[in-house]
Amino acid sequence: MKAVRIHRPGGPGDLVYEDAPEPYAGVGDVVVQVHAASFTPGELDWPVTWVDRRGRDRTPVVPAHEVSGVVAEVGYGTTGLRVGDRVYGLTDRHRDGAAAEYLAVEARDLAVLPGNVTHRAAAALAMPGLTAWQALFTHGRLTAGQTVLVHGAGGGVGAVAVQLARDAGARVIGTGRGRHAEAADAAGAHEFVDLDRGWFDGRADLVFDTVGGDVLARSAAVVKPGGALVSISAPPAALPGTSRAVYFIVEPDRTQLAELADRVRSGRLRPLAGATFPLSDTREAFLAKQNGVPGKVVLEHD
Ligand SMILES: NC(=O)c1ccc[n+]([C@@H]2O[C@H](COP(=O)([O-])OP(=O)(O)OC[C@H]3O[C@@H](n4cnc5c(N)ncnc54)[C@H](OP(=O)(O)O)[C@@H]3O)[C@@H](O)[C@H]2O)c1
Repeated sequence: MKAVRIHRPGGPGDLVYEDAPEPYAGVGDVVVQVHAASFTPGELDWPVTWVDRRGRDRTPVVPAHEVSGVVAEVGYGTTGLRVGDRVYGLTDRHRDGAAAEYLAVEARDLAVLPGNVTHRAAAALAMPGLTAWQALFTHGRLTAGQTVLVHGAGGGVGAVAVQLARDAGARVIGTGRGRHAEAADAAGAHEFVDLDRGWFDGRADLVFDTVGGDVLARSAAVVKPGGALVSISAPPAALPGTSRAVYFIVEPDRTQLAELADRVRSGRLRPLAGATFPLSDTREAFLAKQNGVPGKVVLEHD
């Protein structure tokens, strides 16, 4: 099959489109014929990208762990999915990713995709949807009527977080660079703060940070007493009193994936897919994302 691989730790310039062995379905796995895939900016910088679960070098590595496609093979002991099912999900970072024609993945990391949700939308949804859901509801414990500040509201995760928070009845303030104001507005933010020009001068029950650095450091001061600062960029410092500071790594969850896909099906949620590239141009896709394409960049087959 054709795949995009990287043969030693490096950057997007080291990605190669080439022939690679077809994966097989292990116990509990399915093999998915990939229709669309996406990746997280910076995933090539993560130590986890280069090793298996025992810490052994597993190069050459196939990147992009956000997938949408069709089940082509079902492994021994796999339940819940059949050959021909349309599926999408977030796959194990210790295994090869979805920048390939076929991908072996644990079935429990996938959910069935409704017929009217495109593979492109699903690939753009998997990671941002799960991450935003877990940040807002699992870790942030957001409820209707609360105020939430979403840093990076024009990004892949941020744009989905704004929509989910708004849908949950929260007051939503998005932040980002000035050029992200439109995306934040389209996602449903009540207000937008251009971080190149200013800073949020209120207090929020929940701050969800997708940016990190100074933005994360300054965020502790705007959390209401008893509120929460949830970050996916880096662990925040502890907050005083009953306020909570949380860092987490997103986990695949079939129930959440199904709920998210159902919201896309009914028009209640729109993942932000900023650009689409053919699989053979994965290197260019990574570089485009580094250069500021809003939302998710999706890979599709030529
Ligand atoms: N812990 C986890 O489980 C987890 C899960 C998913 C993602 N992540 C991490 O979370 C981060 C966000 O992911 P994503 O896919 O949403 O990335 P993204 O699409 O690049 O979104 C990040 C947004 O923040 C903006 N931004 C960056 N620096 C900024 C600054 N100094 N001031 C204002 N805005 C700034 C970016 O704008 P520009 O593009 O213009 O710079 C972009 O709009 C990434 O670092 C990713 O690795 C972690």
